[in-house]
Amino acid sequence: MNCSIKEAVDRIKTGEIVAFPTETVYGLGADAFNPEAVAKIFALKGRPADNPLIVHIDRFEALKPLVNAIPEAAEKLARAFWPGPLAIILLKNSRIPDIVTAGLNKVAVRCPNHPLALDLIRQTGPLAAPSANKSGRPSPTSAAHVELDFGIDFPVLDGGMCDVGIESTVLDLTTEVPIVFRPGAISAEMIESVLGKPVSVFSNSERLEIVPSPGLKYTHYAPKAAVQFWDGHPDERALILSLKKPVSNPHDMYYAGDINRLARELYDKFRLADFLGLHAVKIERFEASEAPVAAGLLNRIQKAIGR
Ligand code: TXA
Ligand code: MG
Repeated sequence: MNCSIKEAVDRIKTGEIVAFPTETVYGLGADAFNPEAVAKIFALKGRPADNPLIVHIDRFEALKPLVNAIPEAAEKLARAFWPGPLAIILLKNSRIPDIVTAGLNKVAVRCPNHPLALDLIRQTGPLAAPSANKSGRPSPTSAAHVELDFGIDFPVLDGGMCDVGIESTVLDLTTEVPIVFRPGAISAEMIESVLGKPVSVFSNSERLEIVPSPGLKYTHYAPKAAVQFWDGHPDERALILSLKKPVSNPHDMYYAGDINRLARELYDKFRLADFLGLHAVKIERFEASEAPVAAGLLNRIQKAIGR
């Protein structure tokens, strides 16, 4: 159910939770300093207690009270990419309740690039927020997606369709060499060019025994339909998402090379394929180098292929 900014602010201030738009996906927010409110997020989502939440702030200056120290790298990256789809992990200070970070001594913080989110956070203070889906469902990229998971009476600040469509880049800055735990629209190359030094990109297959970011060990959402790379042949029982080759079925999508738009619509198309009872989603291959978001998008597609 659509709610106003004022209702959303009131809910947060009274220890309730509310769904709100960001440029990546919708978030399910609670006052980051209120452990009882944050507990409601874990309960409602069915989220494992060992999977920490990102704290959302409205400006760089709001970072200081949350962390032990702000390394130069964090300041450089925040100046370059905030507000925007980059979550930075730093050593937390004691003001952040343990439930937010699932007991870790590190907190992920980001400043979302969406006017409604910024307006909300300016009036409430920092919000702990995961994606606004039930655990095991795709991240919501519209208010309607949130209602599909939590019911039409659940309060959602409606900001239309999310612009990016996949979750933020998550970067750990507490290690000697920064590590990208989750690729997103801010690419590793963009981060490297701001820092002037290499970063490492966590690969699930390499080090499964050490899971430094708990989210990595949970199975990722995949639709009931099989997700595959498209072999170029028409298939009436599949939803084809084509970047360059023409498509024939009315439900298929031709993106004219626009990888950003494919990222924006991917989760919605996953939901659509299941709604239409199609047997597969087939996506035309592309290279990680074709757009900044491409590596993050390939990561989500590959996870959905592997389930
Ligand atoms: O784009 C986004 O980041 C969205 C919007 C709402 O901001 N949020 C989002 O949150 O995707 P969530 O909870 O669905 O994913 C957060 C990821 C998880 O994989 C979690 O394990 C990781 O970030 N994470 C959060 N805090 C962490 C920490 N202190 N250390 C390591 N990983 C952390
Ligand atoms: Mg999530």
